[in-house]
Amino acid sequence: MHLSRHALHNYWRDPMDGNRADYYIEGIENSKFLLENMKGYFDLHANILEIGCNVGRNLNHLFQAGYQNVSGIEISNYATELLKKTYPDLAQKATIYNSPVEEIITTLPENGYDLVYTMAVLEHIHTESEWIFHEISRITKTYLITIEDEVATTLRHFPRNYKEVFEPLGFVQVYEEAERVKKIVGGTFVFRMFKKI
Ligand SMILES: C[S@@+](CC[C@H](N)C(=O)[O-])C[C@H]1O[C@@H](n2cnc3c(N)ncnc32)[C@H](O)[C@@H]1O
Repeated sequence: MHLSRHALHNYWRDPMDGNRADYYIEGIENSKFLLENMKGYFDLHANILEIGCNVGRNLNHLFQAGYQNVSGIEISNYATELLKKTYPDLAQKATIYNSPVEEIITTLPENGYDLVYTMAVLEHIHTESEWIFHEISRITKTYLITIEDEVATTLRHFPRNYKEVFEPLGFVQVYEEAERVKKIVGGTFVFRMFKKI
């Protein structure tokens, strides 16, 4: 049993529980894990997009590490406003799209990003929105990283194996790991890195 797409969007626009944007300022270990796994793949001029960036903790961590061309998509207006207050330097430089990914992704340029990444976001993409996976492939120039819970099923979780999702869409998986990500991000999460072919 899952929420309808409409109800799911409404939930993420303004969650009043443990998913409130204020709580996503915490979790720097997740951001460090992402950065560590990017080392050696990207120069500091890389164009980077996070889908579902929330308050921008991950983007700010990359920004502070020297990545200047960072963008994010986020459905919650509250989270994007909090991003501006929490990380004003990031907010000045980054492009933040306050929109459901479904409404913005078709407007983004083909092969526009050296890296597109998601952390705990695709797991909340409704089955009716799975067409966005093709769009993710279209806008990715080189690498895609997914850090997603591939097992949990709740009203808001849609479990998928992202290797099976993205390899048929023009990617080859170059790296997968579950052990460290389990300890840092969560028990049934998998880190996957894909290269566009
Ligand atoms: C579990 S949180 C993860 C946030 C962030 N990636 C992190 O790791 O801290 C999921 C995020 O995805 C956003 N989100 C969920 N569905 C979305 C959609 N359809 N379009 C854009 N953002 C969405 C939520 O608002 C929330 O910020």
